[in-house]
Amino acid sequence: MKRVLVTGGAGYIGSHTVRALVEAGYDVTVIDLLRSSFGTGNRAAVPAGVRLIEGSCGDVAVLERAWRESGGFDAVIHFAALILVDESVREPARYYENNVVCSLRLFDFALRAGVRALIFSSSGTIYGNFTGRGLIPESAPLVPINPYGRSKLMTETMLHDLLAVHPAARAMTLRYFNPAGAKLDLSLGQMRPLATHLVNVAAEAAVGRRDVVRVFGSDYPTPDGTCVRDYIHIEDVVDAHVLALRALQAGEPSAVLNVGYGQPYSVLEVIEEMKRVSGAPFRVEIGERRSGDPPYLAADPRLIKEMLGWKPRFDSLETICRTQFLWEKKRQSLTI
Ligand SMILES: NC(=O)c1ccc[n+]([C@@H]2O[C@H](COP(=O)([O-])OP(=O)(O)OC[C@H]3O[C@@H](n4cnc5c(N)ncnc54)[C@H](O)[C@@H]3O)[C@@H](O)[C@H]2O)c1
Repeated sequence: MKRVLVTGGAGYIGSHTVRALVEAGYDVTVIDLLRSSFGTGNRAAVPAGVRLIEGSCGDVAVLERAWRESGGFDAVIHFAALILVDESVREPARYYENNVVCSLRLFDFALRAGVRALIFSSSGTIYGNFTGRGLIPESAPLVPINPYGRSKLMTETMLHDLLAVHPAARAMTLRYFNPAGAKLDLSLGQMRPLATHLVNVAAEAAVGRRDVVRVFGSDYPTPDGTCVRDYIHIEDVVDAHVLALRALQAGEPSAVLNVGYGQPYSVLEVIEEMKRVSGAPFRVEIGERRSGDPPYLAADPRLIKEMLGWKPRFDSLETICRTQFLWEKKRQSLTI
């Protein structure tokens, strides 16, 4: 199982995973919108030698080209998506079109073409307003509270139904919590034109790329009133994909797995840590809540550890913030 199609492979998580797959000896093809249409991918994030096809993974002509040029795939890893919760509230049709309809076309095409191994990027957002106590297990109710989360739930459901009529195929659905940080050697990091996720936004403020960090709501039912999330270092997210691919290769059954540390931090705690590692006293403004944000999301990671033997290597907020800060500094000089 050596030939792998990666959609969204020029984006943040996709490009880091592509790098690891190439290092592990896989023959990788990437489909990404890059900066065409509403894409956010960066050509420079894709390693030289990787086949890169610019286009939508929901476009059958693009898929046919990818299959033709590569000679077919043993596995598909599907990262491509629109990813912003508040944008999905404002533009639900675009989210359902890109995240659900494109995923349907891709999975249906791949399964009909004989692909036996699929990995899908889902999200912890799928749990919505978790009302239980403590960490969220995969068995928790799935009640997403925004169109982005619902697009992930719809795609999970669809994938499950498609697998039922392709019994030889299997899928790993990975529900990431909050991936953040950059590679430890700073050779790669987030390259989106406009940062929207907290750790990136705070790092941008720390290097002076933006004036202020806005906190969206301080009246949530959490210890300090700000939203609580489970931040996970990008390299541990990548490890989860390599292990998931190997498990599928070894004939393991389909699974739905949380990818998080089970270590919750509030927005204010992340901001404090970024100020500490950077030494930059950037300005913080407390504002109104943003629509679609659940107050608390933190993964119960037991299942992925048991099933894939996943062992977090960088589970410290300090490492996440430090690598993001240093990457942001480096990025300024690279102008990417
Ligand atoms: N970053 C997070 O915090 C987070 C959390 C949970 C889940 N996820 C999921 O992980 C996946 C990757 O997220 P990311 O943070 O790397 O985002 P990203 O925006 O950096 O990367 C997404 C990539 O997909 C591409 N793309 C979007 N639609 C496409 C299409 N139709 N065809 C081809 N390419 C397309 C974009 O150009 C971009 O390069 C997404 O599915 C996202 O929903 C991300």
